[in-house]
Amino acid sequence: MKIIIEKIVFGGKGLSKFNGKVCFIPFTLPEEVVEVEIKEEKKNICEGFPVNVLEKSPYRIEPKCKYYMQCGGCDFQHIKYEKQVKIKKEILEETLERIGKIKKNVDKAIPSENPFNYRNRVQFKFDGQNFGFYKLKTNEVVDIESCDIAEENINNLIPTLKNFAKNHPQVEELHVFYPPENKPTLKIVLKENSFVDIESLLNTFAGIGIYAGNKRIKLEGKSFTFYRVGKFNYRVSIDSFFQVNKFQIENIVDEVISEIPKNSQCIGDIYCGVGLFTLPTSKKAKKVFGIEASKSAVKDAQYNVKVHNIGNVKFYQKVVEKSADIIFGYSPDTLIFDPPRTGIPKNIIQKLLQLKSLKRIIYVSCNPSTAARDINLLSEKFELKKAKLIDMFPQTHHIESIFVLDKI
Ligand SMILES: C[S@@+](CC[C@H](N)C(=O)[O-])C[C@H]1O[C@@H](n2cnc3c(N)ncnc32)[C@H](O)[C@@H]1O
Repeated sequence: MKIIIEKIVFGGKGLSKFNGKVCFIPFTLPEEVVEVEIKEEKKNICEGFPVNVLEKSPYRIEPKCKYYMQCGGCDFQHIKYEKQVKIKKEILEETLERIGKIKKNVDKAIPSENPFNYRNRVQFKFDGQNFGFYKLKTNEVVDIESCDIAEENINNLIPTLKNFAKNHPQVEELHVFYPPENKPTLKIVLKENSFVDIESLLNTFAGIGIYAGNKRIKLEGKSFTFYRVGKFNYRVSIDSFFQVNKFQIENIVDEVISEIPKNSQCIGDIYCGVGLFTLPTSKKAKKVFGIEASKSAVKDAQYNVKVHNIGNVKFYQKVVEKSADIIFGYSPDTLIFDPPRTGIPKNIIQKLLQLKSLKRIIYVSCNPSTAARDINLLSEKFELKKAKLIDMFPQTHHIESIFVLDKI
C-alpha cells in the first residue's frame, strides 16, 4: 500500500489518511511517499510499518546506528537534528492547542550541544544470551556492541558488562549511571536472589547494588556517586532519579532558575528528586521546600543541602497527591513542578486554584499531553506566559518542555 505522510504527531509517528482511516507509520517524515505494510487495523485507525520510502524528504538522513529500526530505543535517527527539534516544537504547539485549548508559540527551543553520546544513564537488558535493549515493540533483546546515544564512558564499559552478564545467566538488567567527573554506579537486577561474583567489577564502580526484582539484596562499595552541575556537587544514589542528558542538565537548571521572580519569598520544588533545582532555588528566596516520594532521593537532597551549607530548605518525603496541606502551609508565591509522565494530580491542581499566595508556576514536563491538560485546568486562574522546549532526548520522539504560568 502506498501512502503520503502528512505530519509527525505526538509519539513520533507519521500520520496519513487512507481509506477513511488515520494511519500511523513510524520512521517517516512529512511529505514522504511510503510503501507501507499494515500491521494492525481498527475501525478508524491503522498502524503500519514502512517497507520502502519511494519519495524521500530532504530532511531524511542515513541513521548512524546499525541497530536502528530493530532496537526499540531511538525513532528519530533518520531525521536531520535541526528538523527533529523543529518537529518537536510543532508537536508541542499542536498539543497545547488541541488538548490545552491554548494558542501559544514555543518561545525558545534549546537543542542539545551534541545530539549523540549524551546519555549518562543506560539500562541494559539481558535474556541469558543477548545483551542490549528491547527490540521494537517486543521483550526480545537486540544484542549490541555500542549505543550511539550513550556517553563514551558507558560504551567503553559494554564489553566488560556483556562478559559479566554472559557468565551470570540469572542477570536480567544492568543499569549504569556515569557522571562526567566521578566513578559510575551499577545496579544489577537478577531474576531471583542468587550469588553473583562481582569481584572483577569492584574497581570500576563507586558502588554496586544487587537487586532481586525491586528489592536490594546486596550493596558493595557506596550506594551513590556525585554529579557536578554548575556550582553544586550533587550526591545521587543508585535508586534516585537524575536528568539523563549530560549536555542539557545545566541548561535546564538555568532555564528554571531564570524564571523565578526577583521578589520571591517562599518557593516549593515539587517532585524535587535529589534537589537539582532546589539547591540553586535556595539562593532566590527566604524559604524553600521540596516534596519527593523517593526515600533515597530525599536522603540525597538532605545531604546535598547540608554539604553546601544551605539552611533555608526543608524536604518532605511524601507523594504529591497527599501533600496539599504541606504546600498550603507554606503559602508559597512560586512553585516549581517537575512531575513524571502522568502530570500534576487533579486534586493538587484544584488546590492550586485556591492558593491565594501563589503567583507563578514553573512547570517542567516530559509529556506534552498531560502538561497541556494541566495547563488547561489551571487556565481558570493562571495564564501561560512562556513555553520553552529543551531537547533532553535527541534521536527519540520524547519532548521535554518548561512552561511559565502567572496568576491572572
Ligand atoms: C522527572 S523527575 C524530576 C526530579 C528533579 N526535579 C530533577 O530534575 O532531578 C520526577 C521525580 O518525581 C518523583 N515522583 C514520582 N512520583 C511521585 C509522586 N507521586 N509524588 C512525589 N514524587 C514523585 C520521582 O521519584 C522523581 O524524583
